[in-house]
Order: sequence, then C-alpha cells, then structure tokens
Amino acid sequence: MTDPPTDADLEALVAEAWRVRERAYAPYSGFAVGAAALTDAGVFAGANVENAAYSPGICAERSALVTAVSGGARRIRAVAVAAVGADPSSPVTPCGLCRQFLREFGLDIVVVSEAPDGTRRRWTVADLLPDSFGPEVLTDATAEGDDG
Ligand code: THU
Repeated sequence: MTDPPTDADLEALVAEAWRVRERAYAPYSGFAVGAAALTDAGVFAGANVENAAYSPGICAERSALVTAVSGGARRIRAVAVAAVGADPSSPVTPCGLCRQFLREFGLDIVVVSEAPDGTRRRWTVADLLPDSFGPEVLTDATAEGDDG
C-alpha cells in the first residue's frame, strides 16, 4: 500500500495534467490529452503521442507512467488526466490498455480525471479494472517453472 494522495496533491496533479496536455502530439485525432503521475520519485507528466501508422500511438496515461518509471519511480500513488471531450462536463476515462498498464503498479492507485468545466471523477485502479490480471500471478508461475 502506498500513502493515499491528499487533496492538495490531487489539485497539483490535475494542474500538471492540463499543463502537459498543451504538449500533446495528436495531429490525427485532434484529441489532446495530458496525464500526470504522483510517485515516490516526484511528479511525472506525459501527453498522448500519435503516429502516422496509427497503432503505435501512445495515450497520455501510459506516456506519464513510462516517463515516471524511466525517471526512477517504482511506486505510483495517483494519476490525473485532463482532456476536452465532446461533453465538456464529462471527464475522460482511461482506455482499457491504460487500465491494464496502470494495474501493473497497483490496484490502489487513485485516478482522477477532470473535464474542462471542472467536473472530476475519481476511481481506484481496482474500480476501473475489476477481476484483473496482475504481476502476482506471474511471480508464482515463474517460481513453479523454475522448479520444473
Ligand atoms: N487518449 C489518451 O491519451 N488518453 C485517454 O484516456 C483516451 C484517449 C488518446 C489516444 C489518442 O491519441 C487520442 O486520445 C484519441 O483517442
């Protein structure tokens, strides 16, 4: 378990997500997203980065996590997301791929998403990905494999 983020932590994280959203590279969808991760090694931000071949594109959430891990983080406490969807009062929810990517780092990570009118939604990764597959399963399977 990691320390739960404070309200002040989340305020700062949401502000950082909006800031990095300005750096999104989204020429194909035109849908810019920013994300920021609060970690044991500080705050790391990431934007979505698209690609002419489409599928290599990466979402803001994974971009922030990759930046965080590369910057030395191992424990992720919270992730904020900022985007402007069709409904200005509906916070964007992370895609399925990002939910699984987040889940690697813990079921208790707080995810908060803010819409442009300030409406927020807040979940844990466990809320976003029930009955999920995680690294604990592989640890046991690897140990068994080593024996055999
Ligand atoms: N996207 C994100 O970065 N995060 C989300 O939570 C939803 C979708 C990106 C992927 C793609 O670059 C664009 O938004 C449109 O789907």
